[in-house]
Amino acid sequence: MKSIKVGILGLGTVGGGTANVLQRNADEISRRAGRNIEVIMASVRDLARPRLCDCSSLTLTTDPFEVVNNPDVDIVVELIGGETLAKELMLLAIDNGKHVVTANKALIALHGNEIFAAAQEQGVSVLFESAVAGGISIIKSIREGLAGNRIELVAGIINGTGNFILTEMRDKGRPFEDVLAEAQALGYAEADPTFDVEGIDAAHKLTILASIAFGIPLQFDKVYTEGITDLSLTDVDYAEQLGYRIKHLGVAKASKDGIEMRVHPTLIPAKRLIANVDGVMNAVMVRGDAVGNTLHYGAGAGAEPTASAVVADIVDVARTITADPHNRVPHLAFQPDALIDLPVKSQDAFECAFYLRFEVNDVAGVMSQLSAQFADQNISIEAITQKEPKVDEDFVSVIFITQRTTEGRVNRAIKQIESMADVRKKAIKIRVEHLN
Ligand code: NDP
Ligand code: HSE
Repeated sequence: MKSIKVGILGLGTVGGGTANVLQRNADEISRRAGRNIEVIMASVRDLARPRLCDCSSLTLTTDPFEVVNNPDVDIVVELIGGETLAKELMLLAIDNGKHVVTANKALIALHGNEIFAAAQEQGVSVLFESAVAGGISIIKSIREGLAGNRIELVAGIINGTGNFILTEMRDKGRPFEDVLAEAQALGYAEADPTFDVEGIDAAHKLTILASIAFGIPLQFDKVYTEGITDLSLTDVDYAEQLGYRIKHLGVAKASKDGIEMRVHPTLIPAKRLIANVDGVMNAVMVRGDAVGNTLHYGAGAGAEPTASAVVADIVDVARTITADPHNRVPHLAFQPDALIDLPVKSQDAFECAFYLRFEVNDVAGVMSQLSAQFADQNISIEAITQKEPKVDEDFVSVIFITQRTTEGRVNRAIKQIESMADVRKKAIKIRVEHLN
């Protein structure tokens, strides 16, 4: 059978890893795909830069349009990143009737609705398994393996760089900047690492997960996003003492009044498996009404783990290249005309438990004044702890763990508490998910 010809845009961390895996495992991959898969061309910015892969058998160019316009290329693999050029190249590839594989979560989260409509029109596939959670096949699992379920919850550690930083800071006390620099050197971080540490990358991925889980259009602008840069080691320590771990979690939850999409640091009971996912590893918990809870775990970033997912998508295209386009797995798991614009909840309507820490003067009666504000808002308290002042501190920390409530109620209680004379500064609020 005729071999499938691949053109790769970008031979950096993921592009180099992809070319390597395709070369090294060529025989195994061919036995799976039913035909040979051959990289014939790739584009880079700098021809002189050393590559992770052997480029001797392919044509290298600095013009990515040459790849997209090459009539011999069947599949364009977009591994440049960013939105502008990548989008133009992808739409041109689709227009040229080529199938596309991409790891670009920003592009899919922001422009996926338009890209999939164009692909649908042309009868080509756009596959993006590597865009979410690196090497874990979470998209395939939700889109195909869990297709019989009504999905209720997707909650995951979906940024490897952020998890690597949190783990190294907690376990080794390393400074934030040092660990981030190491994550960049290891090829985990985005070109702009604020995407990792401010939760934007996780929000891109959550946008995609929410769409395929609930059958809604991609809506990145509706994801509530908080990063890890404001997280203090004090709260990491107090959380541990209370039996929790703090993880940077993406949560997409369906309830009868709408969908919650949020990314933020989260306290999770330390005994949960997901609380023990460390380093660059990712894990995604998916709850379906039929299957119950499932947990999907693996490397969330890096050259070959990500390449593993890119290559799987290439194999999928190779297997279905002659199939009737209407019989392929829909891009967003649900048939395009069956996507529903469910309401997305605002922050005030989010429902979960909360960790709240207040720094207060050590005077009699403060605790009961604070408690009264929670009672006024009908918020039940699960636990209260008072921490003695540390050396050089002249205040005490009072920590409340609430029961499940809405964020609106909690914000109203905080506002009242922050206006009290004996309360020193802004409250620390971290959401708690029990995931049971
Ligand atoms: P790199 O920066 O390592 O590689 C980018 C590649 O694209 C390089 O080969 C670069 O050329 C080329 N390139 C960049 N800009 C241009 C341009 N303007 N014109 C032409 N070529 C260009 O990025 P990654 O491999 O890390 O990431 C690629 C994509 O994969 C991104 O969308 C990223 O979000 C995603 N991703 C990354 C993961 C990871 O672990 N790194 C994991 C999952 C997804 P040159 O080498 O000559 O500079
Ligand atoms: N920068 C991303 C991360 C790459 O650290 O998770 C994988 O998507």
